[in-house]
Amino acid sequence: MTAEPGTTEAPRKIVVLVSGTGTILQSLIDAERDSAVATDYKIIAVGADKPDIEGLARAERAGIPTFVVNPLKSSSRVEWDQALAERLSDYRPDWVVSAGFMRILGPQVLRKFPNRIINTHPSLLPSFPGAHAIDDALSHGVKVTGCTVHIVDSGVDTGPILAQVAVSVESGDDSETLHERVKQVERKLLIDTINQLCTQDQ
Ligand code: GAR
Repeated sequence: MTAEPGTTEAPRKIVVLVSGTGTILQSLIDAERDSAVATDYKIIAVGADKPDIEGLARAERAGIPTFVVNPLKSSSRVEWDQALAERLSDYRPDWVVSAGFMRILGPQVLRKFPNRIINTHPSLLPSFPGAHAIDDALSHGVKVTGCTVHIVDSGVDTGPILAQVAVSVESGDDSETLHERVKQVERKLLIDTINQLCTQDQ
């Protein structure tokens, strides 16, 4: 994988994209800064598709540069895609990590970073892709769901799977309790997967 890596030196530079509360981003920040945890990455920026979200506030509190590329401020999806591709390129990241970013990335972003964008998703893909994975799993009545980290391609949660962990659905689970249990597993899975990719990179 040789798409515009920002540097050949460790730690590898990552930009994280978020749309909401950013608890998974927080776990990436905490792991990077915890000397007891071996990490091979540095978060050099956090981007979002809207302002005033807790995910951006978490980055700002940690002293990480932030940016917003809001599709509502673009006249078309093509223009938004172009603007996001440019902002991401400014940082020359080795990897782009979508951690609760609730937008489909466009062709210009994907072309800039081929096989260099990963996403974490709260289901065992290919089951329950899309924005409502937890509710869809509950509605379907599955007894086991989980989380997936995968390479982003042009489909909706269709890219090559890098890692998965299963999580049992308990009787009495609602959307909130199940999502929180999935996220507990998801945080570690994402950190471990990023570390693995960054180590393989060197
Ligand atoms: C995570 O569960 C992530 O997998 C999910 O949003 C949550 C973000 O949590 N992403 C998707 O559903 C993408 N399809 P957070 O805001 O607490 O980090």
